[in-house]
Amino acid sequence: MVYTEKKQIVSIIEAFKHKGLKLGLVPTMGALHQGHLQLVKKALEENDKVIVSVFVNPTQFDNQDDLDKYPRTLETDVTLLNTISETNILVYAPSVDDVYEGNTVSQKFDFDGLEFEMEGKFRQGHFDGVGTIVSRLFDIVKPHNAYFGEKDFQQLAIIKKLAEKYQIPVNVVGCEIHREPNGLAMSSRNTRLKPEYKQVAPFIYKTLTAAKKDFGTKSATQIMEWVDNQFENNDLLTLEYFIIADIETLKPIKQIVEQKTYRAFIAVYADDIRLIDNIALN
Ligand code: PAJ
Repeated sequence: MVYTEKKQIVSIIEAFKHKGLKLGLVPTMGALHQGHLQLVKKALEENDKVIVSVFVNPTQFDNQDDLDKYPRTLETDVTLLNTISETNILVYAPSVDDVYEGNTVSQKFDFDGLEFEMEGKFRQGHFDGVGTIVSRLFDIVKPHNAYFGEKDFQQLAIIKKLAEKYQIPVNVVGCEIHREPNGLAMSSRNTRLKPEYKQVAPFIYKTLTAAKKDFGTKSATQIMEWVDNQFENNDLLTLEYFIIADIETLKPIKQIVEQKTYRAFIAVYADDIRLIDNIALN
């Protein structure tokens, strides 16, 4: 069932709460793929009812063209969700006005510096936009559990921080990255890749796995230089950043310290399409 208005979904949610049902929330921007569906399936396993929001949130885009071209496929999204469960999934697909009530701006958040690294550096205001929409969804749905993918690892860390710092009573659950058989991380933006870029895009994950292999024998700087080199020699893909970061602070590291946990993060342009990925190193 698709709800486009906040007040409709709020009243049905209240009825569920009254019955003591456990609610899961899966926020999405639609153009659903298997990566999203994996989150929904996990949510269905752990909750009685699952609310999937489908909303292309304008305040998290720093590029109007990217926002305009973002794929919008609500009908197919709903069909896909129905194949998983026709009874326990509710889709909330509001208009911009229903969410923002005529004032489409972000609130400002303090995520203890997590917001200034990586995506925060390259996409101005992005995490204020994400914080704004996710905190509104938390407020509307008041879910017991909310599901986010490690594909956007920094976003997941920021949402955990949002819940903790702003004392929102929700359990934030992280889910593994879902990939194409060729290793390319699934993303709604992949559908926009022209064939030659689609063919070369798995190079991103290949580079990440090679970096992981070298982690421990080579220094972080050596690995970063090697990755830079790989992309310099690639005619189709342009590297925006590659860093190795401590998963607690998300700050790039210079030296590997034992007992800390690290991940490699990458952002690449394939033509005008920006792709991100990451991998656990230890
Ligand atoms: P969107 O890109 O649609 O992603 C929705 C959720 O699906 C996010 O938690 C994302 O990390 C997860 N996801 C996407 N691709 C995945 C993959 N290949 N494997 C695992 N999980 C994957 O992220 C957003 O939307 C928005 O920023 C949102 C949180 C909805 C706020 O507007």
